Amino acid sequence: MTTKIHKTKDGSSTLYSDQFEQFYHNPNGAASESLHVFFETSGLISSLDSAETLTVLEVGFGTGLNFLLLLDILLQKKINIPVEFWSVEAFPVDQQTASEFNFKDHLKHPELNQLLPKVFGKLKPGLNQYKPLDDHNVSLKLFYGQFDDFDPKDLKVDFIFHDPFSPEVNEELWTSNTFKKLSSYSKTNTVIATYCAASKARGAMCASGWKVARSRGALGKREMTIASLSEEKLVNFKRVNEERLAERYRTGDFG
Ligand SMILES: C[S@@+](CC[C@H](N)C(=O)[O-])C[C@H]1O[C@@H](n2cnc3c(N)ncnc32)[C@H](O)[C@@H]1O
Repeated sequence: MTTKIHKTKDGSSTLYSDQFEQFYHNPNGAASESLHVFFETSGLISSLDSAETLTVLEVGFGTGLNFLLLLDILLQKKINIPVEFWSVEAFPVDQQTASEFNFKDHLKHPELNQLLPKVFGKLKPGLNQYKPLDDHNVSLKLFYGQFDDFDPKDLKVDFIFHDPFSPEVNEELWTSNTFKKLSSYSKTNTVIATYCAASKARGAMCASGWKVARSRGALGKREMTIASLSEEKLVNFKRVNEERLAERYRTGDFG
């Protein structure tokens, strides 16, 4: 897969995928968008004040930016709890491309930027495991393969970063089957966050049993989506009409 590096408006890198004809992030700011969607709106940062462990599942590792941001937040907040970051990536970039990413200006610990070439340089098909920090109990569990082939046993996560390309070009990752599979890795309080606000994507979530709400999008985008199996996790958000969206999804109203 051919990818080209671009600088987004906040100075952080993103990629453009020729295969999917799409940027990996919002061109207005890769790091700013990720922080807003996956770390702030999801409630992950605020959960760290009382968490005893943290497990995250990301769909679409891409540049690895979300993993770096999580490490940076843990170091900033001096949090040293067991953390597992699971991620799935079918088309990883090569080591050379990863060495050209610039996330340094967005990290309080800029030395973390050097981790990515090491991760991509060693990647083999199937599950890869890394312990990136000597004095922290953090592990990266990166599955190199299609999400369809990702089949971990007994995985239960606290947060899901749903970060594929858009439903128009990456359709298989926005179906009710995908969200059903994600619910099998979830506890009652698990939260899914995604930048996407498409009704079809929300309908697929609703049709597979998720409670779904809208929230303010990043960097000029009107909305993003947040979901949980528990209504209580969504009390501060405006819920969609789940029954109606699920019905529209099932009857093929979204095409
Ligand atoms: C929007 S990018 C992810 C951005 C990433 N989270 C980041 O911070 O850089 C979507 C990613 O999903 C991957 N992808 C697309 N379809 C996939 C599939 N069926 N299984 C696994 N990964 C897939 C793409 O290769 C791409 O890296």
